[in-house]
Amino acid sequence: MKFSSAFLLLSGAVAFAKQPNILFILTDDQDIHLGSLDYMPKLKKYISEQGTTFTQHHCTVAICCPSRANLWTGHAAHNTNVTDVKPPWGGYSKVVSEGWNDNYLPIWMQNTGYNTYYSGKLWNGHTTSNYDSPYAGGFNGSDFLLDPYTYKYYDAKMTRNGAEPVSYAGNYSTDVISGKIQGFLDEALADERPWFVVAAPIAPHSTQVTDNATNATSLQIPEYAERHAHLFNNYTIPRDTRFNAKIQGGVSWMAHLPELNSTVIESYDEFGRARLRALQAVDEMVETLVEKLDKAGVLDNTYIVYTTDNGFHISQYRLPPGKECGFDTDIHIPLMIRGPGIEANKELDIVTSHTDLAPTILNLAGAPKALDGKIIPLTKGAAGNKTYEHTSVEYWGTALAEGLYGFNNPRYMYNNTYKGLRLISNDYNLYYSVWCTNEIEFYDVNTDPGQIHNLAADSSTSATYTLEGRSFDQVIARLDTLTMVLKSCKGVVCTEPWNSLFPSGAVGSLKDALKPEYDTFFAKQPKVSYSACELGYIVSSEGPQDFNVYESNKTFLKVNRSDRDFEYGDDWHLYT
Ligand SMILES: *[C@@H]1O[C@H](CO)[C@@H](O)[C@H](O)[C@H]1NC(C)=O
Ligand SMILES: *[C@@H]1O[C@H](CO)[C@@H](O)[C@H](O)[C@H]1NC(C)=O
Ligand SMILES: *[C@@H]1O[C@H](CO)[C@@H](O)[C@H](O)[C@H]1NC(C)=O
Ligand SMILES: *[C@@H]1O[C@H](CO)[C@@H](O)[C@H](O)[C@H]1NC(C)=O
Ligand SMILES: *[C@@H]1O[C@H](CO)[C@@H](O)[C@H](O)[C@H]1NC(C)=O
Ligand SMILES: *[C@@H]1O[C@H](CO)[C@@H](O)[C@H](O)[C@H]1NC(C)=O
Ligand SMILES: *[C@@H]1O[C@H](CO)[C@@H](O)[C@H](O)[C@H]1NC(C)=O
Ligand SMILES: *[C@@H]1O[C@H](CO)[C@@H](O)[C@H](O)[C@H]1NC(C)=O
Ligand SMILES: *[C@@H]1O[C@H](CO)[C@@H](O)[C@H](O)[C@H]1NC(C)=O
Ligand SMILES: *[C@@H]1O[C@H](CO)[C@@H](O)[C@H](O)[C@H]1NC(C)=O
Ligand SMILES: *[C@@H]1O[C@H](CO)[C@@H](O)[C@H](O)[C@H]1NC(C)=O
Repeated sequence: MKFSSAFLLLSGAVAFAKQPNILFILTDDQDIHLGSLDYMPKLKKYISEQGTTFTQHHCTVAICCPSRANLWTGHAAHNTNVTDVKPPWGGYSKVVSEGWNDNYLPIWMQNTGYNTYYSGKLWNGHTTSNYDSPYAGGFNGSDFLLDPYTYKYYDAKMTRNGAEPVSYAGNYSTDVISGKIQGFLDEALADERPWFVVAAPIAPHSTQVTDNATNATSLQIPEYAERHAHLFNNYTIPRDTRFNAKIQGGVSWMAHLPELNSTVIESYDEFGRARLRALQAVDEMVETLVEKLDKAGVLDNTYIVYTTDNGFHISQYRLPPGKECGFDTDIHIPLMIRGPGIEANKELDIVTSHTDLAPTILNLAGAPKALDGKIIPLTKGAAGNKTYEHTSVEYWGTALAEGLYGFNNPRYMYNNTYKGLRLISNDYNLYYSVWCTNEIEFYDVNTDPGQIHNLAADSSTSATYTLEGRSFDQVIARLDTLTMVLKSCKGVVCTEPWNSLFPSGAVGSLKDALKPEYDTFFAKQPKVSYSACELGYIVSSEGPQDFNVYESNKTFLKVNRSDRDFEYGDDWHLYT
């Protein structure tokens, strides 16, 4: 059977015996650009060689809890307003107060007839004190890691189905979760209903360490299972152009980072080795789970999704271990899917993001829902002539140095609030961002794959820059306006932003928008800007929200976007 049987179910043409099962494996802080996927042979054998790798997949907000809120709700971070890992801007209590604990993917899956199970880290700030007030919604079976033990690989505390937390001190966290998922699969397989099972180990996230003298916590080199301690002694972080590089035209707190010396570099290489070792228990879990499903005879009706919450950098741009940036190291992340109708050993390079995963999974379940993402076309050709070229990136707050060095004091860097836009097509490959300091970044990733030359800060280069025969200023005008639309988008506006600017449908890509006839239109648009660097989403500090709509060559229509509460629904349609 070709493509998704869910579509057939939807169209009513063919009755599908049973909605497909979904196993979702979510790691924590796993990179692409440090090479982690090259060190997971079982993931390769059981998932990527049996399915499709989405080579241009991105998170939209490069930090755990906000990214998970985006992933599990299918809403852009500016619509979840879960923008940090801790209160008042984020964490479990913010997830609850924003209503998402009663309105997210596991609940929607239950509503469409699924049994749902989860083991591992759900949210940050989901703790041994608040796990029961309220209970996490939406699961038939759950066993959650709880703070402040989540990032202690050998000292986890977990709550099973809402019961009193239990300590697993001495056991390796990922192995414990693998065991729990195997148990949940037994339960799931014993029932007639389809199932949605999430395995969310913390690897390769840093270990949380408490300084006993001060009680200060920090994030240090991840712990691995003893059986993997001997591995990868030769690994070093790739010495590519961004390694220890000074960003030409770096913005905000990244403008003046000191070069890393050899002591620091060696420490960070070891950090990288530890991450690879920590991922080995995940690799083993992948094999165990796939073989279990194979033995149970259900692989033909099971989708397996493998991804992570956000990426990671170490030593690139002279940065200490961490995330929270808009560079590819932090936002460009693994996504692989195997399952019925999905081609084996294939790569698809359409641009996708975490916002798309809930819509895609709901569609597989036969229950599509209007959210901020698109349904990812899972096979080659399924995208038709549709253009999928953008990912909207956002961030509010600070950047944290993990590891022993970095930023020294303080370990938090402020003024890390920005909007980003990643645009990738056959014709261009760009990153644009506007910071709360009103500085701008623009990298042409085709000519500068390491993103180390900010053309927006270099008038000599930008004077000669052209894209599709258009000047730097004309390109920036389009990117800024697209960012303006995306920074407060809802629903189909997030997936088809050009239609909000050009209701006629005349423009569907940056390439279309670059036509000279639109120069005046873009020149007259309000610009993305900030009046303050906030730690969260304060609309009044985020400059203009409205933009002009192109009606004809002569008329611009001003759109008033201050009514932010329109219903999802009417203007939304299925992508096929
Ligand atoms: C799973 O939970 C849903 C929602 O509470 C419920 O309708 C369903 O019966 C449960 N499944 C099983 C096997 O108990
Ligand atoms: C913890 O480790 C012990 C010793 O290896 C093992 O017997 C036990 O099953 C493990 N517990 C869990 C929950 O994995
Ligand atoms: C802090 O104390 C605990 C318990 O006494 C000990 O296990 C841990 O290793 C100490 N941490 C550090 C960083 O010394
Ligand atoms: C650290 O925390 C422990 C346990 O809460 C407390 O007894 C101790 O006084 C604290 N130490 C410092 C330096 O604050
Ligand atoms: C590590 O590098 C050394 C020296 O280049 C080489 O002899 C050894 O085989 C390498 N080990 C592994 C596991 O690749
Ligand atoms: C290397 O840099 C680190 C972090 O700034 C510093 O603590 C250390 O003293 C430096 N080492 C040398 C040999 O300069
Ligand atoms: C794609 O575009 C071509 C050329 O414009 C057209 O012939 C074809 O029907 C389109 N295909 C789809 C699936 O829209
Ligand atoms: C943040 O940026 C503002 C505006 O550029 C600047 O005045 C301020 O000093 C910066 N604050 C920090 C903590 O870097
Ligand atoms: C987001 O949450 C913060 C903290 O609760 C609040 O101050 C802010 O107004 C919210 N932003 C929006 C757009 O709702
Ligand atoms: C705008 O005007 C130009 C020249 O008059 C014409 O070629 C073009 O098709 C018009 N564009 C639109 C979208 O109407
Ligand atoms: C935009 O709409 C809001 C709410 O309907 C209204 O209060 C505001 O005055 C309008 N702004 C403009 C510039 O029309």
